[in-house]
Amino acid sequence: MSRLFDEKKLVVASHNEGKVREIRILLAPFGVELFSSKELELSEPIEDGDTFIANAEIKSKNATKESGLVALADDSGLAVPSIGGIPGIHSAPYAINPETNERDFAYGMAKLNDEIGDNDRAAYFVCALSLAWPDGHVETFEGRVYGRLIWPIRGENGFGYDPMFIADGYDQTFGEMDAEEKHAISHRADAFKKIIDACFKS
Ligand code: IMP
Repeated sequence: MSRLFDEKKLVVASHNEGKVREIRILLAPFGVELFSSKELELSEPIEDGDTFIANAEIKSKNATKESGLVALADDSGLAVPSIGGIPGIHSAPYAINPETNERDFAYGMAKLNDEIGDNDRAAYFVCALSLAWPDGHVETFEGRVYGRLIWPIRGENGFGYDPMFIADGYDQTFGEMDAEEKHAISHRADAFKKIIDACFKS
């Protein structure tokens, strides 16, 4: 039995305004006052876990320790099983272009396509969501969406590796879908469903 969230305030352990906005919308029905770790000037811990779940827990535990509030954190990325699960937890740094030292997904997607070569193109996105309480209790859930990676890339919507990914049962890439369509089936939506069912509903 999971622990229910029964507080008035929650800190979202992310400095990414887009993520905080998305989470604000998802949690609106529960009447929670949300703060971001940027607003509360919380530190960004080193994410040195071996899994998405471990890294989400590092972030949620750090934020609850520093703020004294219950904290929600996420960690996400893309995995290609045929080549050992890369880029996996390294999905963000994998896309850093060594020429500019900047994150560049055109570069990252081309690099990943080269690494896949003739190997199987099945892939999945993962999102781990972790809720940590000041007394040390933690609830963590993982969402996934399975599909395959195509080349050449298609679509301008979304972010990151979206233009390369087609979810099973669909024809459009995440880069071609509109936001609502993607949000209905994404790894993040799957993880949110699980955490809301377990911790935000009585
Ligand atoms: P983080 O969870 O903010 O560290 O993001 C990890 C990285 O995974 C992002 O920079 C993207 O490269 C990738 N990623 C995570 N979710 C998505 C998604 O929904 N679409 C495309 N790329 C994603």
